[in-house]
Amino acid sequence: MLEIRNLHVQIEDKKILNGLNLTVHDGEVAAIMGPNGSGKSTLSYVIAGKDDYEVLDGEILLNGENLLDMEPDARAAAGVFLAFQYPLEIPGVATMTFLKAALNAQRKARGDDELSTPDFMKRVRAGAERLHIPQDMLKRALNVGFSGGEKKRMEILQMALLEPTFCILDETDSGLDIDALKIAADGVNALRDPKRSFLVITHYQRLLNYIVPDTVHVMSSGQVVKSGGKELALELEANGYADYRSQAA
Ligand SMILES: Nc1ncnc2c1ncn2[C@@H]1O[C@H](COP(=O)(O)OP(=O)(O)O)[C@@H](O)[C@H]1O
Ligand SMILES: [Mg+2]
Repeated sequence: MLEIRNLHVQIEDKKILNGLNLTVHDGEVAAIMGPNGSGKSTLSYVIAGKDDYEVLDGEILLNGENLLDMEPDARAAAGVFLAFQYPLEIPGVATMTFLKAALNAQRKARGDDELSTPDFMKRVRAGAERLHIPQDMLKRALNVGFSGGEKKRMEILQMALLEPTFCILDETDSGLDIDALKIAADGVNALRDPKRSFLVITHYQRLLNYIVPDTVHVMSSGQVVKSGGKELALELEANGYADYRSQAA
């Protein structure tokens, strides 16, 4: 279970999160919706442990452990995974090499043995196939020259390999056409598990037709201002965010 209590965060003297509270239970898919600039990406970065952000107050507990006391790699080992809104391009590093290094680093941190190359290849091939990622893409430099949809599918392949317990998807739908969106959503849905939870950040309701959330939370000015079930996403789609803009400080 992830519990965020009274989280206040600033960057470069600008206050972005203003006392945010959120609970996500094991096995739950929680959607975060909200207008541009409401702090959704900031929330995802602060959970994953990106530096630059100054946490002024509050805590983020994953199964009782305060993530804020942990380095980013320790958070990853504890099961946190962030699929970026804008995946980084890494020239000179073959995708396959990157995936293997990431997976083995994480296995080591969790006290598991490194995977043998055949075992690793088997897992990558199965994951890539499910996500319609061609084998030759895995030989190219990570994300370099990949289309928006290919980058997002690669993020989901990483997620599938790392088997995280808390997955954050930041606007996985942005830049995807409807076919790519369905493939990405299928990849996510295949990972749904009673022991794994998801924070699905999205600006539009569309993604939630394919990744059906258990709960929906509306963010405005760095706070969760309303929480409800999946019907809340439809209400937002119909009415927009105007009702919520004025509620937060
Ligand atoms: N590095 C930064 N320096 C200054 N302001 C920032 C920085 N990163 C984000 N912000 C500001 O924080 C606010 C929230 O941004 P963000 O978390 O990206 O929102 P969202 O993902 O909901 O669109 C925005 O007003 C944005 O301009
Ligand atoms: Mg964002």
